[in-house]
Amino acid sequence: MKEKIFIEGRKKLSGAIPISGAKNSCLTLMPASLLSESALTLNNVPNLTDVETMNTLLRSLGCVVHYQKADKTLNLKTSDECLFLADYDIVKKMRASILVLGPLLARHGQAMVALPGGCAIGARPINLHLMALEALGARFSIENGYVKGKVGSRLKGCKIEFPFQSVGATANTIMAAVLAKGTTELLNVAREPEIIDLCKCLKAMGCKIEGEGKSRIIIQGVDNLKTTRHSVVMDRIELGTFIIAGAITNSDIKLTGGNTALLENFISKVSEVGIEIHQTKDYLQVKRENSSSIKCTNILTEPFPGFPTDLQAQMMALLSIADGVSKIEEQIFENRFMHVPELIRMGANIEISGREAIISGVDRLKGAPVKATDLRASVSLVLAGLVAEGQTEIDKVHHIDRGYEDIIGKLTSCGAVIRRY
Ligand code: EPZ
Repeated sequence: MKEKIFIEGRKKLSGAIPISGAKNSCLTLMPASLLSESALTLNNVPNLTDVETMNTLLRSLGCVVHYQKADKTLNLKTSDECLFLADYDIVKKMRASILVLGPLLARHGQAMVALPGGCAIGARPINLHLMALEALGARFSIENGYVKGKVGSRLKGCKIEFPFQSVGATANTIMAAVLAKGTTELLNVAREPEIIDLCKCLKAMGCKIEGEGKSRIIIQGVDNLKTTRHSVVMDRIELGTFIIAGAITNSDIKLTGGNTALLENFISKVSEVGIEIHQTKDYLQVKRENSSSIKCTNILTEPFPGFPTDLQAQMMALLSIADGVSKIEEQIFENRFMHVPELIRMGANIEISGREAIISGVDRLKGAPVKATDLRASVSLVLAGLVAEGQTEIDKVHHIDRGYEDIIGKLTSCGAVIRRY
C-alpha cells in the first residue's frame, strides 16, 4: 500500500471535480440489507475502504455482496441463514460495524457484535444504541469484548427519547424499529441528511416512517420488505472538503453534483470568510471574492443542521491562513484536534485549550513532512499542503482512503501537483 502523499504547493486549481456518494450514508444503508431476504441495490456507491470493510462484514453475516466499480452499483442479498456474529477482526477496522446490531436483532432476534472500541478521535461509546434497543425489548450482556443481544419474541414498538443526538444510535434504532411490532416514537433524533437518506431507502423497501430530518420520528412496524433500488445521497463532507480546496488555493472550480442544501451552516461560514459560492443545476462553483484574503471567524461544531464536526479540520486549515484570530470549539468529539500539531509543523499558529482551538492566521504555510492520524485530519493536511510553500509529504495516508474516492485523481485533474507513493 502506498503510504505517502507528496504535494508541491501553491498551484491554482481549475476545472471540475465530481462529488461522490456519501460514505456515511452507505455505512447505514448497507446494513439495512440484513433486514430481509429481499435484494437491495445501491447506486452511486463510492469506491472506499470503509465500503469494502462493510462488504466483508456483511458477507460474514450471510449476505451476497457484489460491487460493480465501473457503474458504482452495489448489489446486496441476504440469505435466510441465521448468521449473527460480527467478528472483532472486522469490527476493529471500522466502528460503523456496530450498525449491524439493530438489523440483526430485528431480523434474527439475536446478535453478537464485537464492541467497536474507541478510535483516534474519541472513546465513541455505544450506550445510546444499547439504551434504545433495550427499550424495544432487546437484552444485552457484554462478554469477552462482544455485545450479545437477544430478543424474547419480537421487538416491540415504544417511545424513546435520546438524551442527545447520535447519528449511529438513531440509525440503529430506526433499523430495529421498522420490523418491531406496533408503533415507535423517537424523540431528539439525529437530523443528518444521511439519516434522511436511510429513511428514504427504508420507505422504498416498504417501511412506514414519518418525520425524518426533524427531531421526532414515528415508525409503524411492518412484517416484510421488498426488493429495492436506491441511489446514495451526495457526500456533503467531500463537497465541503473540495469547497475548502478551491478557497485555500484561491481558485475558481466547479464541483459537479454539489448541492448547498445539505451544508447550509457550513456554506454561510465560508461565505462569511470571503468565499463566493454559486449553485447551478449541475454544479456548485467556488471562488474567492476578487482574490481577497480569508477573513477570520468563530466555529462551533454541532449536530445537523449546525456546523459539521467532519469539516472542522478542513476549516481549520483554511483559517490558519486567514487575516486575524479565529476560534474553533469542537463540541462533538473529545479528541478531534490531532491535525493541529501537524499544521503547526507547517507554520500554523494554533493554541489548544480543552475543546477550543485559537487559530492566529499566518501569511504563509510552509511544506514539511507530516503524518495523518485519522480520516478528516489527513485531508486537512492535504488542503494545507496545496497552499503551503514548497513540498509537503504526508505519511500514514491509508486513513484518507476510508472516506475520499480517488482524491489524488480528482485534485490532479484540476492542476494540483500531488502524487501517492
Ligand atoms: C457518525 O458517527 C459519523 N460516522 C461520523 O463521521 C460523524 O463525525 C458523527 O456521526 C457525528 O456527525 C458515520 O456515520 C459512519 P454520533 P457516530 O453517535 O454515529 C457520543 C467521519 O469522519 N455518543 O453522532 O459514531 C459520541 O462519542 C466520521 O466520517 C455517545 O456518547 O457519531 C460523540 O461524542 C467520524 N454514546 C457524539 O455522541 C453513544 O451511544 C456524537 O456521536 C453514541 C454516541
